[in-house]
Amino acid sequence: MSAPRECSLTEFLDLLRESLAGDACWGVVLSQPCRGAGGSPATTESELVQASRPHHKLTARPVELSGERRYQLAERRGKQEFHLNLTADELLTRITSDFGERFEQADLFTPDADYSARIIRKDAARLTKRKPSKSAPALTHDRGKQYLIPEGRPCPFLAEIGVMTPAGQVKAAKQAKFRQVNRFLEFVDDVLPELPPTGVLRIIDFGCGKSYLTFALHYLLTELRGREVEIIGLDLKGEVVADCQRIAEKLGCRGLRFEVGDIAGYVTAGAVDLSVSLHACDTATDAALAQAVRWQAQVILAVPCCQHEVFGLLTDDSLPGLLRHGILKERFAALATDALRAALLEAVGYRTQVIEFIDLEHTPKNLLLRAVRCDRPAPEAKERYERLKAQLGLREFELERRLFASH
Ligand SMILES: C[S@@+](CC[C@H](N)C(=O)[O-])C[C@H]1O[C@@H](n2cnc3c(N)ncnc32)[C@H](O)[C@@H]1O
Repeated sequence: MSAPRECSLTEFLDLLRESLAGDACWGVVLSQPCRGAGGSPATTESELVQASRPHHKLTARPVELSGERRYQLAERRGKQEFHLNLTADELLTRITSDFGERFEQADLFTPDADYSARIIRKDAARLTKRKPSKSAPALTHDRGKQYLIPEGRPCPFLAEIGVMTPAGQVKAAKQAKFRQVNRFLEFVDDVLPELPPTGVLRIIDFGCGKSYLTFALHYLLTELRGREVEIIGLDLKGEVVADCQRIAEKLGCRGLRFEVGDIAGYVTAGAVDLSVSLHACDTATDAALAQAVRWQAQVILAVPCCQHEVFGLLTDDSLPGLLRHGILKERFAALATDALRAALLEAVGYRTQVIEFIDLEHTPKNLLLRAVRCDRPAPEAKERYERLKAQLGLREFELERRLFASH
């Protein structure tokens, strides 16, 4: 370590510029939030709150995106983390504006040395040079999961529907929806081999609501997978549907349209290849499953929502030790419902799996029914269904009524 010495902010920023120019910036961190703007003492309550946030920091590390070097910038604010992918110039601009204004400490990691600069007064810092502590970074984009639609890269449709900022930052309130939609896209991507390999893919999103998923499906299939599509988002809510239609037209989403209607009564002009539903309320999921079966959709992906039917039909006599606890009864009813749904789908010729959709910490509605048409009922599936229904003491079940009334 060389003795700390005073330097100007410009000198530190020059070190950063040089390291970026030579692909020798292995990381840069800004920490220690300033007490007030420009490093002056905090004067307002919000500045004090800001100053008391020791976990607020910016970390940038090199990544490779489509063969180009970028810097993934993570901004930690308390428990939340936001990501952006920046070019070297953008990173330099960001560090130049924030070092000394928002943060008092800057650390630069290079192959030759680690540099630490600590603001001591306006435009001056104490610079320390140490032996390098970091090894060459792995240039993968994301240490964790790489989503089909990554955070940090601007995505016009997500900005338009209010999930991302135009710069590509996912809004805090939309993080859960962003993860859900990305996860759902992975399931769609996985089932693509089950769908017609050429021609127009016909898809319906039942209970599309604000249509985060519907727009994302369109993006995945057209932009990322180069397919021609005809996607319909269907919902009961006229105003929401009108808004989605307006956005689809504004973005020029070819083959995407929205309709107002009730799932149960909806009539399509042509065949449907893929039927999706994400959190369609209560028995709306059953209506969606029954319609998809009736149209012989090749693939059905359904993440059910709240569940009331079986909850209301289960009596304490069937499993008294379990059902006397309200919360257990609610969860058991939801699981039993999905087991009955899966058995019925198998009984009408769908290879069916019940899969964890997303970590429980994100939503308790975390199961996905994945059903692929195989044209022959699974052996004994109907018996299995009947036995389960009898064990639960049920005399009727919504999906059975719908399937066999419409079959
Ligand atoms: C919880 S929201 C989910 C919206 C969207 N799929 C998502 O995950 O963001 C459920 C949506 O289903 C719609 N819905 C419920 N029952 C329906 C029905 N019978 N026909 C059409 N839409 C229905 C509601 O209007 C609502 O927009």
